Amino acid sequence: MARILTGIQSTGIQHLGNVLGAIRPAIGMSAKPGNESFLFIADLHSFTTVRDPAVLKESTYAAAATWLASGLDVNTTTFYRQSDVPEVTELTWYLGCLTPFPMLANAHSFKDKSERRSEVNAGLFYYPVLMTADIVLYDAHFVPVGKDQRQHLEIARDIAGAFNRQYGEDIFVVPEASVSEDVMVVPGTDGQKMSKSYGNTLDIYAPEAVLKKQVMGIVSDSTPLEAPKDPANDNTFKLFSLVAPAEAVETMRANYVKGGYGYGHAKKELLAVLLDGFSKERALYAALMNDKTELDRQLAIGAEKARSIAARTLDRVRSRVGYLPRG
Ligand code: TRP
Repeated sequence: MARILTGIQSTGIQHLGNVLGAIRPAIGMSAKPGNESFLFIADLHSFTTVRDPAVLKESTYAAAATWLASGLDVNTTTFYRQSDVPEVTELTWYLGCLTPFPMLANAHSFKDKSERRSEVNAGLFYYPVLMTADIVLYDAHFVPVGKDQRQHLEIARDIAGAFNRQYGEDIFVVPEASVSEDVMVVPGTDGQKMSKSYGNTLDIYAPEAVLKKQVMGIVSDSTPLEAPKDPANDNTFKLFSLVAPAEAVETMRANYVKGGYGYGHAKKELLAVLLDGFSKERALYAALMNDKTELDRQLAIGAEKARSIAARTLDRVRSRVGYLPRG
């Protein structure tokens, strides 16, 4: 049985690129028999930057609602908030004391920001250690991550390895990154890769008026309505072909080539397909965001499972390094 674990950032509402490129594939993988999957919202990592308590709380709920609305089943995936398992912070301390300072100083996540020293907190410096604790606390074998997290996984392997050399090879599973190379690239409204940092997202679970505004804002060229258009070079068409049924895509392609069909028409069709294709998910997302008690209830199921494993690992570590197990 392979144990697969990954953490997700809780940075606000998720966009179509995340849902198609990351969330759906991850849910698909966790549903495979023979995999035991752990998924958590990395809300302790968020605290390196988020200072508004309401934002911290709400964005965690939004992340939870997104995954649940996208089909995550809390009975088959252990789904929890990182902050609901405080064992992880204690383990972070033990791991940190075996982590060479230069290894963290060289982490991109820190280095990229460290020119502005006064704005950098020690939590950000410690980010990869907390991430290592997230993983080894649950004896995870595989960690699906994006390419940007590859270095963090190398650090996690180094720290776990150092701990094992010091305290016994059986103490931690040394995790492996699984970086999928063929991630679906979803274009944003400006044609670059869809990303929150580019401000070019389609927020698929946002209220209709918001999504509509984003769709209508998709960048197109100035070919006049009557003229034939090149579907291969148009963002609306590209997005449409990712979400619409094959037949509808062919019809739209023919309309583009024929002329007399404007980008405004195409955008309206795209919006309709998004609203229709994601109607169940959108309704569930809205219902969950209106019922935090239900979100808490679902998250508590995972927290309980996670804590019982975490407590055992932590006792193993405590007794091995020279403290009393709590057990
Ligand atoms: N740092 C990861 C990201 O930015 C999120 C994360 C936190 C994570 N802890 C983790 C991913 C543990 C995998 C395993 O995406």
